[in-house]
Amino acid sequence: MSHSEDHSLIILKALLEAKDGFVSGNALAEQLGVSRVSVWGRMEQLRSQGFEFEAIRRKGYRISKKPDSLNALLTRAYLKESEDSPELLFLATIDSTNDHASRLLANDYEAPFLVISNQQTLGRGRMGRTWHSPPSSNLYMSFGSRPYVQPNRMQLFTLWMGVYVARHLWDKLGMMVGVKWPNDLFFDGKKLGGMLTEARVDADSLRELVFGIGLNVNQTQHDWPKELKGSATSLRELCGEEQDLNKTAALLIEAIYNGYQAFLAGNIRSTFEDMWPEFDILKGQLIEAETRNGNLQGIASGLDNRGSLILKTEEGTITTLNSGEVHIKHR
Ligand code: BTN
Repeated sequence: MSHSEDHSLIILKALLEAKDGFVSGNALAEQLGVSRVSVWGRMEQLRSQGFEFEAIRRKGYRISKKPDSLNALLTRAYLKESEDSPELLFLATIDSTNDHASRLLANDYEAPFLVISNQQTLGRGRMGRTWHSPPSSNLYMSFGSRPYVQPNRMQLFTLWMGVYVARHLWDKLGMMVGVKWPNDLFFDGKKLGGMLTEARVDADSLRELVFGIGLNVNQTQHDWPKELKGSATSLRELCGEEQDLNKTAALLIEAIYNGYQAFLAGNIRSTFEDMWPEFDILKGQLIEAETRNGNLQGIASGLDNRGSLILKTEEGTITTLNSGEVHIKHR
């Protein structure tokens, strides 16, 4: 980050943290060790990014409008400082943040890092599906790393990240979001987000890991494409009000990085096993699974120790699924 961006960030943080929202120009100049003219200059730069400020005599400045689209400074201003946080790469547009992260890893870019884009032109979901990625309404992020873990430990990774993000949304926003095996975030029977983990494994060891997540934030029913109407939802729909995209971005970045750190730090299995039933939206439901050998129906009965879904069929047999697509059958 440049020196001037550093100053803009300090100004933003001071304004966001001020009790009544006001900070005097003098206080800002003093804090930065620069002249008031220089503070105005930084505020002009922030205005050009979509911020507006209100100035009141003897009180100082207050933010009166924040940008609606993804803004690197604002997201950073909302983030808690953490010395070892990953590098954040903000983009206005990209084909797919997962593809961009893979390219960076392939080109020896220093990891870990997190790519975050205001829109995607070729957002991807599992099984070659398209991930609807319009500008300025939702979040699209990919975390790239070169972790030193055995590939077989990765079996629980995506589900672990899912419960971690869901728990963070509960802690910070009070929203009880569920996880639908194997890679969706769900609320009220509708898809709120999706995760896509992609890894490069060489000679039995993990070389590169990309964890991508798309979270629907401000999308409303009337702007979903036809095929997603009724089956997708957004944080805005569940809270009943528009969400601050950059605040939500900061929250999601924290969840991803903390979840990843916890995963690396040690054995997450027992914590995962305790948390999973709370977030598992399939448990006890009659579901239909698409498998290579045709469709299968049964009652979803939790996970085995490799993260495979346990299915009890009507005939009483038990099958496990290690990947695939499942739908809840309404009885
Ligand atoms: C799915 O539900 O099938 C997974 C969707 C994953 C979407 C995210 S958005 C950010 C990242 N970049 C992509 O192209 N895909 C993932």
